[in-house]
Amino acid sequence: MTKKWWHDKVAYQIYPKSFCDSNGDGIGDLPGIISKLDYLKDLGVDIIWLSPCYPSPLADQGYDISDYYNIDPRFGTMEDMERLIAEAKKRGMYILMDLVVNHCSDEHEWFKKACEDPDGKYGNFFYLRDKKEGKLPTNWRSYFGGPVWDDLPGTDKQYLHVFHKKQPDLNWENPEVREEVYKNINWWLEKGLGGFRIDAIINIKKALPLHSYEPDREDGLCSVKAMLKEAKGIGEFLGEMRDRTFKKYDAFSVGEVFDEKPEEVPDFIGDNGYFSSMFDFNETIFGQSEKGWYDAKPITPDDYRKCCFEAQKKVGDIGFLSNIIENHDEPRGVSRYIPEGDVSDQSKKMLAVLNFMLRGLPFIYQGQELGMENVPFASIDEIDDISTLDEYQVALDAGLSPEEALRIVNKYSRDNARTPMQWSDEANAGFTTGTPWLKVNPNYKTINAASQLQDPDSVRSFYKALIALRKSPEYKETVVYGALAPLWEEQHNLMAYSRKADRTLYVIGNYQNEEQSVILSSPCKKVLLNNYPDLQMEENAIRLHGYQVLILEM
Ligand code: GLC
Ligand code: CA
Repeated sequence: MTKKWWHDKVAYQIYPKSFCDSNGDGIGDLPGIISKLDYLKDLGVDIIWLSPCYPSPLADQGYDISDYYNIDPRFGTMEDMERLIAEAKKRGMYILMDLVVNHCSDEHEWFKKACEDPDGKYGNFFYLRDKKEGKLPTNWRSYFGGPVWDDLPGTDKQYLHVFHKKQPDLNWENPEVREEVYKNINWWLEKGLGGFRIDAIINIKKALPLHSYEPDREDGLCSVKAMLKEAKGIGEFLGEMRDRTFKKYDAFSVGEVFDEKPEEVPDFIGDNGYFSSMFDFNETIFGQSEKGWYDAKPITPDDYRKCCFEAQKKVGDIGFLSNIIENHDEPRGVSRYIPEGDVSDQSKKMLAVLNFMLRGLPFIYQGQELGMENVPFASIDEIDDISTLDEYQVALDAGLSPEEALRIVNKYSRDNARTPMQWSDEANAGFTTGTPWLKVNPNYKTINAASQLQDPDSVRSFYKALIALRKSPEYKETVVYGALAPLWEEQHNLMAYSRKADRTLYVIGNYQNEEQSVILSSPCKKVLLNNYPDLQMEENAIRLHGYQVLILEM
């Protein structure tokens, strides 16, 4: 594996709408982000991924772009963006934007032109089919519920959208579409961007000719995934995109890739892979059900360990995964991966170490470094996210009571991660002087950046120490490149592994409230990190406190 400039970095995801509001309109913005660069630098962050801030009707919170060459006025101006890139650069940091090109917004001019003249140039930018009364072109169900087909306004055709109806799919089979995408990527890279996070990319290749599949719910529809399983040849598009864009700039790219087969890993993230890296979603997707969130199976500590190790094994030293605990599409990781009732500073720190020390590039989602938790939404009216609203309905349709359905969506809602960043214990958590667009988690009085910055034992201080370890000259090589091997896999509620390069590190987490012991096969030279003030060790036997986590040099 060839070494790359970004391998030893630490990345951080910002959801601009909820990060920091500079002008009191209740919406986070680019000047707000600039004002917090020093906070991120202090934490040890090098790469910042911004969720979309392009002009958008915000039907899917910016993942529906109406102009790829601009900044939405709610988030700022192009000058703000240029200033952000420059200010980041001054601090040795890189900015990534979100590349959302499986679809655009139905308010993009391409789509408007397609409506005006469906048989013309722009009609071919989308998937259009003649409308037939009482029959859809295919029976696929959109990710956000309902059929993927809607009427193309003002015409006798229908268009395809695998996400929301305000997100028409772009036709990647059309070389003109691909040219437009590459032109846009290069335009941004010329501005000095570090690269892109690439949205929903596995959806760009459809199985042709488009056809229906076996229904998987009573609505007679089937998941888009049935079609994706059959779609062949995405590599031609992705390889072309790499060669025409990222490669020329040595840019960083991280793909939102699901369901890749083991034999495809080298194509995706090997030395000349389509992307620099891709996210590990093995833990995220665990327990998902085709029926919907209401049928999902919760993840246990042993499942979590298994998922992480499976992903590590699948990739080995072929390339670099990007490891996450949460993102803007998921509930808060501490609320999901730590058994209910056990969520504490100790267990949050344990989860941080177990994930962060895996081989790959660590990504932190805003507020994760504070141990931000899920939100107690009291009513479905407090929810904004379209996907949550759909899943709520799916749960009701399946016969759950409104209370049960709310409990389910509370658990999985994307809005858990989208509430404002908790900066301080002042009004609105210091996020805005106005009215925040989404309610603030009421626990901001106790969980906030200002108090954690003062406290050497805070979750944030612990994250900072963890990042510093990854960057320390002595341990960097091992933390970044060291081979990973599981340890004591037969022990229940224990996740442990070694990382080996020029040094050997042991990462050991007691994933439960009760104490448990491990016997080291060789003596420990040094304790590099411990989330407890003490270590109960006799000879080579360690008695771990509940949720104790250790990084040892052997
Ligand atoms: C990705 C994004 C998600 C969005 C979807 C459609 O999964 O992360 O937020 O809704 O793509 O663009
Ligand atoms: Ca604002």
